[in-house]
Amino acid sequence: MTRIAVLGAGRIGKIHAANAAASRHASLVAVADPFGDAARSLAEQLGCDADSNPLDAISRADVDAVIICTPTDTHVDLMLAAARAGKAVLCEKPVDLDIKRADAAVAELEALGVPVMLAFNRRFDPSSIELRRAIDAGDIGDVRQVIISSRDPGLPPLDYLKHSGGIFKDMTIHDFDMARWLLGEEPVSVMAVASRVVESTLSELDDFDTLMVIMQTESGKQCHINCCREAVYGYDQRFEIFGSRGMLLNENLRPTTVRRYTSEQTESRQPLLNFFLERYADAYRAELEAFLTALRDGRPMPVTPKDGRQALKLADCAVESVRTGRMVKVD
Ligand SMILES: NC(=O)c1ccc[n+]([C@@H]2O[C@H](COP(=O)([O-])OP(=O)(O)OC[C@H]3O[C@@H](n4cnc5c(N)ncnc54)[C@H](O)[C@@H]3O)[C@@H](O)[C@H]2O)c1
Repeated sequence: MTRIAVLGAGRIGKIHAANAAASRHASLVAVADPFGDAARSLAEQLGCDADSNPLDAISRADVDAVIICTPTDTHVDLMLAAARAGKAVLCEKPVDLDIKRADAAVAELEALGVPVMLAFNRRFDPSSIELRRAIDAGDIGDVRQVIISSRDPGLPPLDYLKHSGGIFKDMTIHDFDMARWLLGEEPVSVMAVASRVVESTLSELDDFDTLMVIMQTESGKQCHINCCREAVYGYDQRFEIFGSRGMLLNENLRPTTVRRYTSEQTESRQPLLNFFLERYADAYRAELEAFLTALRDGRPMPVTPKDGRQALKLADCAVESVRTGRMVKVD
């Protein structure tokens, strides 16, 4: 049984804390959040302790592992504090916003040798696992192109956006990771365009809401990612993997499989699941179980801080491509 403290009791912290409390392989010991009564109310709900200082939660003798769910600019410091204290870590994406800090953190974490997993939850979605299994089994031959459509139902709160690091590092970071994972190779060139067609005031944050990325690997495999912060029909998450012997398609999920036929329309279905909390509920549970299993078995973590670093590098290249209007080589 792994004894867990969750750091940060916001949107994603609530999910991980509830999953840790419900897991047969974990016990939720504490939730830590320095602001407001977020930690206290979540702790009361889940029957654990509340700490106002995340460092106190890390140093508790009855905590084996921490789940870092705090704003992105705190991830590196908290990961290092936990790893230096010998505590295993499951850390939310992205690893950091600055590649040099990410590189230094990855080096220190590898030297410390403490188990650390980066929370790229989409890899643990049942459909993603099936895509990867089918690719590995050779069902579609050699992968030639990966097309990822990734659209949110609406903009997150402005306060969140201010600390997010921008759409490429906050939102598309998931897609950069999925691209690497599904291509099975590292992209070596990146081209991107981005605009503000949803919220023009994002210019004040030097941010965008709509983008397209094209990447290619050394052997010629290609990936196209398109993202938008607003899709009126819900959370749009689709993958198309095209190979030498076929194609894999991963469609969106709906609350039910019912289709309606009337005099006005046919094939009418319910709207898509609204957002990440609903769409990836299974993935968050499976991600935590994968972390706990790797810990228990003393196996390598299935997603590492280095994976987080690689995705961040692709995000940096995409940002540079938007700025310069040129294709960027990944060095
Ligand atoms: N994997 C996913 O699907 C997913 C989804 C959402 C967010 N995230 C990531 O999770 C992180 C948090 O996002 P969120 O949407 O939950 O944000 P949020 O603003 O809802 O919650 C963050 C919480 O952290 C608390 N906090 C701030 N500094 C802290 C500190 N030093 N120690 C402890 N708590 C602290 C805040 O008070 C707040 O309650 C971000 O890095 C984001 O990129 C991942």
